[in-house]
Amino acid sequence: MKKINVGIVGIGSFAKPLVEGVSFYTKNPEETTGLLHSKIGHYKVSDINFVCAFDVDERKVGKKLHEAIFAVANITREITKPLEYEAVVFRGPTLDGVIKEMKDDFVHESKDESVDVAKILKENRTDVLINLVPSGSDEASRFYAQEALKAGCSFVNCVPSPLATVAELREEFEEKGLVLLGDDIKSQLGATMLNRFLLQLLKIRGIRITKTHQENKGGNADHFNLKYRFEQKEKSKSGTLQKFLDKDDAVPTVAFTYTGEPSGHKLVNITIEGEIFGRTPIFITSVIEDEISINGAGTASDAIRMAQFLVDTKQQKKAQWACPFLFKTPPEHMTDTEAAEAFDKLLDSAA
Ligand SMILES: NC(=O)c1ccc[n+]([C@@H]2O[C@H](COP(=O)([O-])OP(=O)(O)OC[C@H]3O[C@@H](n4cnc5c(N)ncnc54)[C@H](O)[C@@H]3O)[C@@H](O)[C@H]2O)c1
Repeated sequence: MKKINVGIVGIGSFAKPLVEGVSFYTKNPEETTGLLHSKIGHYKVSDINFVCAFDVDERKVGKKLHEAIFAVANITREITKPLEYEAVVFRGPTLDGVIKEMKDDFVHESKDESVDVAKILKENRTDVLINLVPSGSDEASRFYAQEALKAGCSFVNCVPSPLATVAELREEFEEKGLVLLGDDIKSQLGATMLNRFLLQLLKIRGIRITKTHQENKGGNADHFNLKYRFEQKEKSKSGTLQKFLDKDDAVPTVAFTYTGEPSGHKLVNITIEGEIFGRTPIFITSVIEDEISINGAGTASDAIRMAQFLVDTKQQKKAQWACPFLFKTPPEHMTDTEAAEAFDKLLDSAA
């Protein structure tokens, strides 16, 4: 049976559990615990095959993917020893991928020339390219999406840079029989989803919201990057919360704190204040703690399989209906329940 040949851009903390997680479900074929979908069409997680990768860090470039994921400054709890994939990490162009504050510490930029990305994608028969460059890398994200188009690969945009939300770009992929899914991957169960559910509950119960604040604390490279490039992430997170609120509700606020202690652990405090009967105050506080990159990689394993499934079943034009389940800023906004139904409908329509 056909495997999905996958290329990864950005071999950071997110790529590590993606490779380890795919290895885990491949080594344990009967295991389905922890998966959003054990099958998408006929694709299991074990049908994901990593064929090439791109990064700019000299500690990653030139290595095999399953070795490069252990380079500093990647940090995530280990799921399993990864399988030995053929994929090699090639030197991609840096563009706006690395801010000056990250150089020499989080990223040691390689002095190698960058490769012809589209050529490498083609040579390795890549079906799907997944984008995991740092938040705020708009130019790099657009570049890799264009290379995917040239090479005939679908593209999964896990970062907040606007790509899938640009209708013309989505159509360019569709016209070539490919799909573009994005933007900004949701965690399997993350703070934004929990916050959304709480807000929806308050609105169902007729409560006016006077404050909603999400404080995200983490210690990985992306959290350091967010100190300087938080605008898109903040917009993506608060935008998705705002969809459920009325005009007279408070605008959601989101903040990011880099703890300075290297860790894949993330802690989020959610504070919601509202007014019930007689304008009487009500307060809700909740805390969610997770291993952030693993939480994202779970959803990415569905996004990769959905991208290929839509191509196989010639449903490219319906790609936007798959996005709300998988991404924080999809082309069309839906509640989480509607998003899950739309996703399953796509799967059923081809059954
Ligand atoms: N749950 C999650 O972890 C989650 C959820 C949503 C979105 N994301 C997004 O995923 C992305 C990756 O997160 P991460 O934790 O792996 O970040 P990271 O900083 O650990 O890794 C980014 C990698 O990209 C590389 N890179 C930089 N510029 C590049 C370029 N031009 N070409 C190729 N590689 C380049 C860096 O060297 C680094 O290895 C971020 O944009 C983040 O916002 C993560």
